[in-house]
Amino acid sequence: MKKDFILKFENVSKYFGDELVFNNVNLKIKTGEVISIIGKSGSGKSTLLKCINRLENINDGKIKFKGMDISEISLVELRQKIGIVFQDYNLFEHLTVLDNLIIGLIKIKGYSKKDSVHKALNILKKVDLDDKKDKYPDELSGGQKQRVAIARTLLMEPDIILLDEPTSALDKEMKDNVLELINELVDEDMTLIVVSHEDEFIDKVSDRIFSFNKHTLFEKKHG
Ligand SMILES: Nc1ncnc2c1ncn2[C@@H]1O[C@H](COP(=O)(O)OP(=O)(O)OP(=O)(O)O)[C@@H](O)[C@H]1O
Ligand SMILES: [Mg+2]
Repeated sequence: MKKDFILKFENVSKYFGDELVFNNVNLKIKTGEVISIIGKSGSGKSTLLKCINRLENINDGKIKFKGMDISEISLVELRQKIGIVFQDYNLFEHLTVLDNLIIGLIKIKGYSKKDSVHKALNILKKVDLDDKKDKYPDELSGGQKQRVAIARTLLMEPDIILLDEPTSALDKEMKDNVLELINELVDEDMTLIVVSHEDEFIDKVSDRIFSFNKHTLFEKKHG
């Protein structure tokens, strides 16, 4: 089978007004690769991830998903194929864990409620939270919330998951708990782009590590 690139940056530049964030980024990512981006605060890591699922627009160049310019893919489809998990957990506070999980399946994927609940309960087992299905987010620990957020992303069956400092708001034990789940995704050959300060973990799981220096993306490790 031809080994195509699932995601390609071609000479991508991003500004906020006159302020350059990054310039001329070129990056080719293969299915199943784990790419990490590290580096200084304000260097553009989150902005790069946001450009991938069009939470931010780019000013120059092209980002291609499976060969297609992402600006030509509908937002619903793009965000279903490329999931993003942020530092703080993006859960709906007024919905139970189970309802947080099924809402996207029903509204975006068009599954029946019965099928959605079935899938959600399966994924809750995977992230070891099946006993929390009827709880509200504020009744969960930080690590548990983050695992629900990752589970919700997984339910959409994305091709790529973007993780923006998924553990930085967590204490040590909760961190390990979430890193373990990310490690499972790595083992399952999910394509991941991770922004994190967990150096040891990043070094262990990444195929390649990048960092911004003076608005340019550099490769720091090649696996
Ligand atoms: N919505 C915005 N409007 C204007 N400037 C922005 C916006 N978002 C980010 N920036 C600027 O873009 C630059 C890159 O920000 P970004 O959030 O990508 O950095 P980061 O590497 O993720 O930093 P951190 O490690 O602190 O999360 C910063 O100078 C920031 O001030
Ligand atoms: Mg950031």
